[in-house]
Amino acid sequence: MERARIAVFDTTLRDGEQSPGCSMNVQEKLRLARQLDRMGVDVIEAGFPIASEGDFEAVQGVAAALPRPVIAGLARACEPDIERAWQALKGAARPRIHVFLATSDIHLQYKLKISRRQCLEQARDAVRLAKSLCSDVEFSPEDATRTDPEFLFQILEATIEAGATTLNIPDTVGYSMPVEFAELIQSIRQRVRGADKVVISAHCHNDLGLAVANALAAIAAGARQVECTINGIGERAGNASLEEIVMAMRVRPDRYSYETGVVSEQLYPASQMLSEITGIPVQPNKAIIGRNAFAHEAGIHQDGMLKNPLTYEIMTPRSVGVPDSRLVLGKHSGRHALGLRCEQLGYRFDRRVLDEIYRLFVILADQIKHVQDHHLLDLIQQTNSGPGRIPPSPAESRAAATAASAAAGHSGRGERSQKPFPVPFVTDLDGATLPLNSIAEHHAEQEDYLWGV
Ligand code: KIV
Ligand code: ZN
Repeated sequence: MERARIAVFDTTLRDGEQSPGCSMNVQEKLRLARQLDRMGVDVIEAGFPIASEGDFEAVQGVAAALPRPVIAGLARACEPDIERAWQALKGAARPRIHVFLATSDIHLQYKLKISRRQCLEQARDAVRLAKSLCSDVEFSPEDATRTDPEFLFQILEATIEAGATTLNIPDTVGYSMPVEFAELIQSIRQRVRGADKVVISAHCHNDLGLAVANALAAIAAGARQVECTINGIGERAGNASLEEIVMAMRVRPDRYSYETGVVSEQLYPASQMLSEITGIPVQPNKAIIGRNAFAHEAGIHQDGMLKNPLTYEIMTPRSVGVPDSRLVLGKHSGRHALGLRCEQLGYRFDRRVLDEIYRLFVILADQIKHVQDHHLLDLIQQTNSGPGRIPPSPAESRAAATAASAAAGHSGRGERSQKPFPVPFVTDLDGATLPLNSIAEHHAEQEDYLWGV
């Protein structure tokens, strides 16, 4: 069955940049924009050209550098903004002016101090002006989800008549619930004249932690563009996270039968690059690209993972650009993972010695959070002289050393070392990767099962 195509509009360089501490200079924006292009996003919102000279240059630079994606620049609904946006965008192969104006009574009364009638006229005039400069015009009624729906429909109809080609529906303050947001998108499609001729887009914020759920609900209700950011950065609690939306559709095509042009293997590299540029780390338990997203500490889980990763992973780490799953050695770990890590460090023990190391390991793990390799080597030394240790053969030692070095991200394996990214997933040797000889098999098996290839 044909899957509907969802356009991915990345606003990391605009809305994402509005998060405290996330502003980027021209070079940084260009670097990230190239990664977004490699990743295959459809639209890159490169900035807000009137905001500063730097942002103007960044939009101009991205526009000149990337011929494939649509390059958007943001403008308030007024002439100076729109003219400035166009000056920055006009060198793009595929430019888009993105005009926005708040439409909720709260914003009209307290922020803009204009009537609904003035708002409607301003939106229409602004879109008309943008359209006279650029054929691709997106209009966003800011705070749409707290706008009187009847007034929202009027504004949307007026902006379609004025030439808007995409209508973006922002849940600006992250207030909506998924069912409600889906109903809003549905009613726009049913009630707004001309809505079938334009692309409906969703732009969700995460104030209640529902941005991705709302974005997916909007897609199911007929939105065909989704606005999102890498690592979910953005104003306040952030925007809908690009990697989560893309992987939700990829992992669950039975429920979300849509496709995007995103190369999922580039998700982790993009996340790492953004984090490196902004200096803002990704929370460890962040879905898809967090440090713990493919880490397993509990003994039962580690045992399952070693038998078959399908037991505890719904996607392969490789499918999102993460080098490997990681078994973290902590107080919940079991003998199976401990034995594997010992082997990767060059030691193989019989059951009795391993039991003794395990006993010491559990005592230590109770006191410290993660048992790292140097701790483990100390424990091994403590039990080293006892009978029963099986010294590795020279060949085994060499193989194990390679494995340990690979686990630390210093592998000579072509695939890992050729890429500029991902940066090594394990840098402090605090966990074991799955046995190397079985990784390829596991991945192939897991991919087949997960995506029914
Ligand atoms: O959240 C919002 O309303 C916005 C608009 C400018 C689209 O970012
Ligand atoms: Zn926003």
